[in-house]
This record gives sequence, C-alpha cells and structure tokens, in this order.
Amino acid sequence: MKKLKLLLILAVASLVAVTLYSEQKHKNPAAPQDAMVNENSEHAVANGRQVFRFDTFGDEDFWGGTLGLHKALEGAKFGGVGPGVSPATALAVGLKVDQDALPLAVVQAIKAGQVDLNDPAVTLTLLKLNAVLGVTGFFNPDGSLKSVGIQCALCHSTVDNAFAPGIGHRLDGWANRDLNVGAIVGLAPNLQPVADVLGVDVATVKTVLASWGPGKFDAELFMDGKAFRPDGGSGSVLIPPAFGLAGVNLHTWTGWGSVPYWNAFVANLEMHGKGNFSDARLDDAAKFPVAAKNGFGHVHNDVDLITSKLGPLQLYQLDIAAPAPPKGSFDQAAAARGEALFNGKAQCSSCHTPPLYTEPGWNMHTAAEVCVDDFQAGRSPDDRYRTSPLNGLWTHTKGGFYHDGRFATLTAVVDHYNSCMNLGLSGQDESDISQFLLSLPKNNNRDRDKDHDRD
Ligand code: HEC
Ligand code: HEC
Repeated sequence: MKKLKLLLILAVASLVAVTLYSEQKHKNPAAPQDAMVNENSEHAVANGRQVFRFDTFGDEDFWGGTLGLHKALEGAKFGGVGPGVSPATALAVGLKVDQDALPLAVVQAIKAGQVDLNDPAVTLTLLKLNAVLGVTGFFNPDGSLKSVGIQCALCHSTVDNAFAPGIGHRLDGWANRDLNVGAIVGLAPNLQPVADVLGVDVATVKTVLASWGPGKFDAELFMDGKAFRPDGGSGSVLIPPAFGLAGVNLHTWTGWGSVPYWNAFVANLEMHGKGNFSDARLDDAAKFPVAAKNGFGHVHNDVDLITSKLGPLQLYQLDIAAPAPPKGSFDQAAAARGEALFNGKAQCSSCHTPPLYTEPGWNMHTAAEVCVDDFQAGRSPDDRYRTSPLNGLWTHTKGGFYHDGRFATLTAVVDHYNSCMNLGLSGQDESDISQFLLSLPKNNNRDRDKDHDRD
C-alpha cells in the first residue's frame, strides 16, 4: 500500500514537471527573436480582429455626414427621416446581430417576447450595444444618432444563428450572402454626392442600387461607371469569403492585387475611410473613366486612419482558416470518388491545386479558358479571372457560383466544365465531384480535428 502511494506521488510529480517544462519551453523559446515573433503575431491578430470588426477608418463622415444614412436608420421620431429601420427590417436586409454583445437582461427580454422587433428604437439600442455586425452608431448626448460608419465585418462576417435567425455568435471572414448592400445604401436621404461622382442623376443611382440584390456589391462601379452588363444584367459580383486566404497570391474575382492592396483599396475608395492610396493603373481614362477623373489612384489624407492598420488586418484575415463542413453534410464515399476525378480525369487540379485549390503563383486566367464572357474580367487591370480558392465552399452556396453567381448549383458548375473542356464526365461523376467540393477543406484542418475530439 505504501509502495503504491509512493509510486503515485512520483507519477504525479513527474507529470507536473513535464507539463511545467513544456509550458516553459513554449513561452520562452531559446532564441530571443523567437519570443519577439510570437509576441508580434499575438498582438497583430488581436489588433487585426479589432480593426476588422470595429474600425470605421473615419468613414462615418461619408455614410453619416455626407449621405445621412443615420437619419434613415433612426427615423423621423428620433429626429431623422422616414419610418426608421426596425430590427425586423434590419434582419430582413441581411444585417446580423452579435449575441455576445447583448447583456443578459436584453437576451432574457427578447426570449420572453418583451422586445418589439418592429420598433426602430430597439435598433438604436442594438447600435449602442455595438451589436450590429459591421455598423457603428455615433450618438448625441440626447440618445439620437449623430452619424453612422461601416466596417469590413458588414460584408465579410455573419453569425451562426445560435440565438435566432440572424442573431448568434460572430463568424468573421464568412461572406454575408443575405446582406442587401444596395437596399441599405438606397435608404440614404442624400445620394446626390454618389450621383455626382458617377455623373448620373439620383434616380439612376437608385435603380442601380436596387439591381444588386442580396449578397452582391459592385466595387468597380466607382472606377468605370459600368452598372450593367451588355446583356442588361447587373454588373455586381458576389461577396466572397475573407477566410482561407493564406498562401493565395491574387485576390478578388478578377485578381486586382494582394490582400493588403485590396484592403487599402476598399477602405479608401469604397468605405470612404480616411487614408492614403496609390494605384497608377486607375489613371487609365479609357478603362477607368470615373477613377481617372476623380483621382482615385492618388488619394491623400493628412490624417491617415488606414495605412497603419493594413498589417494587422492582413495577418488577421490570413489566420482565419476556411471552416470544416459540419459532419454528415456531404456523402463521404461520393466525395472520395469525386476527389479522384478532381485530380484526374476532370483536370480540375491543374488550376485548383490542392491544398490551396488555386494556383500557387500567378492564379489568373482569360475568360475563354473557362468558357465564360469577359465583361467582369475586362473591368480589372489584368483582364482576367482569378482561380477561386475552393476551401470552405460549403459556407457560401447561397447566391450561386462564379463571380456573378451564374451557376445556381455546384453540379451546374461541373457540368459547365464538362462541356467547356470536353471531359466526358457522367452525371454520377458530376455529382461525386460536387460532393467533394462540399467536403473542402480536407481532414488536415484544425477545426475538423477539434470536431472529432468532441465526439
Ligand atoms: C460593401 C461590402 C464590402 C465591404 C464593406 C468590404 N468588402 Fe471586401 N469584398 C466585397 C466584394 C463584393 C468583394 C469582391 C470584389 C470583386 O471581386 O470585385 C470583396 C473582396 C474582398 C477580398 C478578396 C477575397 C478573395 O476572394 O480573395 C478581401 C480579402 C476583402 N474583400 C477584404 C475586405 C476587408 C479587409 C474589408 C474592410 C477594410 C472589406 N473587404 C470591406 C465586399 C465588401
Ligand atoms: C483553366 C483553369 C481552371 C480549371 C481547369 C478549372 N477551374 Fe474552376 N475556376 C477557375 C476560374 C478562373 C474560376 C473563377 C471564374 C469566375 O469567377 O467567373 C473558377 C471557379 C470555380 C468555382 C466557383 C467558386 C466560387 O466561389 O464560386 C468552382 C466550384 C470551380 N471553379 C470548380 C472547378 C472544378 C470542379 C473543376 C474541374 C471540373 C474546375 N473548377 C476546373 C479556373 C479553373
């Protein structure tokens, strides 16, 4: 008995020693530079998350100050204009609510049915709690709205609906395919400044905004003024995810540049934050008449609220891995057959190279190479489409596939390649490849390991 006790004590002691040793090793790496790098990455990610979720870069001077969007949000009753935007309306146009920002009392009141989701005053409360993803309210001392600004999280985040549809825990990086950007911007009482930039009237601006629909936006509109395709369809594109981008070279559907390039572009030119931005390619008056006329390739602000944040913002996005699909959401046997086809007979991996599922290197193709029209490609500097990275595809099946959502289902995408490239795939092959696409990212993903630990 005594012996056993001693053994037990020894065992526990050595366990403690080993644990302490390995923790020590992790926290204090031998080389001083390692410690510096570890510390930097921790700070950068925390910083970048804050910027991604909450930084308006001073764009409230545009959305509130110039367009007066806050007046439409609060409504005439609170000193603004119109009926105001109730939480029910906000959710209907795809805005999302962060359940973790709600105090327990508010959660309980909602649960008890004591909160009127049709009352715009409740929207103001949610804004005060900083609970509306990607939208920040600035308030007057009397509780009315002074201004409103937007963040990256508006378009590139959603929630897991844990509490109710549209209300849940944040999922940064996910494309918000419910969000009707055009409908939201269209509420602004003063769209004249937008009309002036585009050289059209306000009625035309409203028509264009209404043409986008959920999950779409047209960043190029403010460069070339082309709101519609030659066939009359909208020139807008789907909001892509901002996760799973580590290792990917060029970004956006048409490969405008790197992550920090595009972040600077969006923060300055689309969100109307205050910073500095350079791109001499936008001086091309034939291709980018609006940008050239307005000097968008040479933006200068003495007070720069953007440039210092590009580093952390980039690192944060690169650290958001594409999430693993839920268990049972795809047919494993079919996915395994689909993978063999993807890397073999169907030749998909010649462009979508695993594990990035885009080309390592220059990931761009002409429209003809993928058998589509070149309208959207022609609106970008390189006149090409970027090979879309496919990890986490299951999170953005709403709105369709390809830049403008022209293919409603994955099987339709595969069928398109089948005829474009004469692949000789059977209907079964096409459905197997679709199952494989729904299974990405593959098992080596950390989230998936965690999921497995749980069961
Ligand atoms: C109004 C909605 C909206 C906002 C706000 C917005 N984006 Fe985007 N984002 C888009 C759309 C739409 C695209 C695709 C653009 C294209 O291809 O023309 C895009 C593309 C991207 C991409 C390229 C992803 C890929 O496929 O490789 C990244 C990265 C990105 N955005 C990050 C950001 C960051 C960071 C911010 C904040 C500074 C931001 N976005 C703000 C709508 C938005
Ligand atoms: C020649 C290079 C090339 C080949 C081969 C290729 N793709 Fe693509 N893929 C692209 C490009 C470029 C795009 C973007 C097209 C666009 O947005 O208009 C794309 C887009 C996609 C998308 C849409 C992703 C999204 O987010 O909407 C899917 C899915 C896809 N490819 C699957 C496949 C499959 C499956 C195969 C094999 C049958 C394949 N691709 C073969 C270049 C290629």
